[in-house]
Amino acid sequence: MKVTLSVIKADIGSIGGHLKPSSEVLQRVKDYISQNGKDLIFDFFVSFTGDDIAILFSHGQGVGSEKVHKLAWDAFVAGTEIAKKQGLYGAGQDLLKDAFSGNVRGMGPAVCEMEIEERPNEPFVFFAADKTDPGAYNLPLYLAFADPMYNSGLILSPNMAKGFKFTIMDVNYTEGDKVIELNAPEDLYDIAALLRDNERFVIESIHSRETGEVAACVSTTRLHNIAGKYTGKDDPVMLVRVQGPFPATGEVLAPFSIGHYVAGFMRGSHTGPLMPVKMNSSVSYFDGPPCVCAIGFCVHNGKLTEPADCFDHPYWDWVRNNVARKATEMRMQGFSGAAMLPYSELEYGGIVKKMEKLEPKFRIRR
Ligand code: 13P
Ligand code: 13P
Ligand code: MG
Ligand code: MG
Repeated sequence: MKVTLSVIKADIGSIGGHLKPSSEVLQRVKDYISQNGKDLIFDFFVSFTGDDIAILFSHGQGVGSEKVHKLAWDAFVAGTEIAKKQGLYGAGQDLLKDAFSGNVRGMGPAVCEMEIEERPNEPFVFFAADKTDPGAYNLPLYLAFADPMYNSGLILSPNMAKGFKFTIMDVNYTEGDKVIELNAPEDLYDIAALLRDNERFVIESIHSRETGEVAACVSTTRLHNIAGKYTGKDDPVMLVRVQGPFPATGEVLAPFSIGHYVAGFMRGSHTGPLMPVKMNSSVSYFDGPPCVCAIGFCVHNGKLTEPADCFDHPYWDWVRNNVARKATEMRMQGFSGAAMLPYSELEYGGIVKKMEKLEPKFRIRR
């Protein structure tokens, strides 16, 4: 049976600053989908990560379905009405266009989708991150799909012997989707050369070279390319199929123990370590740290199982402590050097005005 998994996420307002959505807003989004999605979708699951609400749909409408996208958009509009009524901060933050026009791509919400031929058992993991951008998944995906130091299956399993194909997007190009396909292991150094630049080159999808099937997909939106100014970070979502011709669940999760430094901490302008958190976690310290949740499911005949909260385990408490220490270390140097993002990443913010004001005050000394 063909099933499409779609994740559509948006920040439509939050409590106490950019912390978390209210229960009423979440309930409104859920109710809207229950009431209006009956004949369209097989199943859905709503969760939040920091101030972002993600809707996971299972349906038979294929990737980029106008009907499914409209359902998500309308649910976010309905949630925004509540957010406005409650006076939540940044109500409707990610709904950048006034009216829905065919597809939520380019309208503010982040989207990742895959159409799959459902296996007899179809385990997958849904990821959602807050206070960061899509490049945050570059390193974990590289390690999970191309490095036998993390993915033991590359050595042990005959199902992954041919490796994986990486589709990587240059997200700075705005005229269309500029993508390149590279194969691991042959093109490993080229893949690494691109993926080191998390702000420009982003993994869009990964395919098995054994079976040709899609293994992973990531939302690649850059909000400032849509809005032309800073409106919030791009807080990416991702779907990863696991087991069989794909990495084991634990191999996909393992790289998140690094807590690697990513962009998007405080005002989307700082560098911070990516903390693996439990489902439905708020953010806190310095509007962060950047965080990611991972929720495991099986989908069967389009029906989703109950969620398995992958980072809700004592092991990850130890990781969270380490990541908190990494966050504090970086924060000790405030605005200096590596702690704040380079000017190219801040150019949509207020610092541009400051630089313009300072420019005429410079003197050239010969
Ligand atoms: P089980 O024997 O528990 O199914 O685990 C198999 C496996 O390879 C997990 O990584
Ligand atoms: P969000 O992108 O999650 O809304 O956060 C914006 C911000 O600037 C937090 O400091
Ligand atoms: Mg926000
Ligand atoms: Mg957010």
